[in-house]
Amino acid sequence: MHIAIIGAGYVGLVTAACMAHIGHHVTCLDIDATRIERLLRGDLPVHEPGLDELVAEGLANERLDFAADYAAIVGSEVAIVCVGTLDGAEEWDGEVVRATVLDLARDGRLPRAIVIRSTLLPGTARSIAAEALALDPSVRVAHNPEFTREASAVSDFLAPDRIVIGIDSDHGDAAEDPLVAALRDAYAPLDAPLVVTDLSSAETIKVASNVFLAAKVTFANEISRLAAATGADAQAVVDGMGLDKRIGRSFLSPGPGFGGSCFPSQARALPQLARRHGVQTPLMDAIWPSNVSQAEWLIDGLERAAGRVLTGLRVALLGLTFKAGTDDLRESPAIRIGQALLARGASVVAYDPLALAAGLALLEADAAPALAAGSAEGADDEVAACHGADAVVVATEWPQFRYLDWAAIGPSMRGDIVVDGRQLVDVPAATAAGLRVITLGVEATAAALRTA
Ligand code: UDX
Repeated sequence: MHIAIIGAGYVGLVTAACMAHIGHHVTCLDIDATRIERLLRGDLPVHEPGLDELVAEGLANERLDFAADYAAIVGSEVAIVCVGTLDGAEEWDGEVVRATVLDLARDGRLPRAIVIRSTLLPGTARSIAAEALALDPSVRVAHNPEFTREASAVSDFLAPDRIVIGIDSDHGDAAEDPLVAALRDAYAPLDAPLVVTDLSSAETIKVASNVFLAAKVTFANEISRLAAATGADAQAVVDGMGLDKRIGRSFLSPGPGFGGSCFPSQARALPQLARRHGVQTPLMDAIWPSNVSQAEWLIDGLERAAGRVLTGLRVALLGLTFKAGTDDLRESPAIRIGQALLARGASVVAYDPLALAAGLALLEADAAPALAAGSAEGADDEVAACHGADAVVVATEWPQFRYLDWAAIGPSMRGDIVVDGRQLVDVPAATAAGLRVITLGVEATAAALRTA
């Protein structure tokens, strides 16, 4: 099948490269001509494991092409819209999607089958489809949301739990719609259940799934706070809960709070949408404020362990990205932690293997008023960041932080506190080096280490 992908950002590139990999002829379009030139040389603007290889494969076997001009997609059977959905303030916004669909609808030479893959607030696709149909009644619009996680997007695409297709069909049964049939063919090489439904339901499946997972993480975070207060072991609690098949263990790991481009904006937007419809959603309303307060709670734990306010303390912040395996800093809890430290007057020495310069710029830009109190700088590696530090905070689960040489780091520090926000510090090794490790609000004791 000849498929056009509109937008060579994160979702567009993964979709384009994977569609080419499963046998389609794909032209990926972006208005940024410089980006297209770089892509044609195999130079990717995003860091995603396995994507470079698939793009190289597609360019080599000529099933994948990149272009900056709409003329390149004349003759494609389907156009899949993968343009961005965040506005300048990182809030969720379907405006670019709408403009792109209408641009396609206006030009009769371009594919009349338009599939929106960008995530939309429920209700948006139906209004975009109505506007597109008003421009050209031969246009058909479907919604096919993606469920790919950063750092595992390629494998998520190629082995999906389900493929969701939303369409408001005039063929009676949506499953009989020709556009649904085309998408079924396009995805045939993937072995996954197909959910065919209306546009609003497809949008809601996507957003409700993300907000549910965000709620699950938030629940685990609140349980970790309760466990710290009652003397329970948060790790044992979530492991024990997760064995219940109705609950499941995934997305139940407590940490510094969720981040990224999807969960935060959607956890804020879904309750806002409900309010606009006059619908009460007290559970959903609480997710975002609870998530933000998790970073403050971790820093409270540091303050308690230090037995003093943080003004003047030097804190090594290990990790800045919102999770490991990506250079994405959007709404990163590590940045929230850094800002909370600065606001409390600490100086922050940060290290991140992929996003140090950009992360520091973000810390400094967003925390400008607080900088009068603390200051932020970068270190060349994790060991250098810890040198002379009063405390270390592990904020992102980069695997290398699991194997830190505490025997070397401990003596180089001025203080003795390690706050493990990701449950990965080698506690016996750090303790043996004379350090006090606080994992999710609980300090490891010698007795606990002996029985472990
Ligand atoms: C998410 C969705 O999972 C994906 O389906 C959607 O298409 C895009 O948004 P992503 O933002 O890449 O993907 O990250 P994900 O791996 O889902 O993690 C989201 C956040 O939750 C991260 O900050 C992560 O650290 C945090 N998290 C996740 C936890 O704190 N605990 C967990 O147990 C799982």
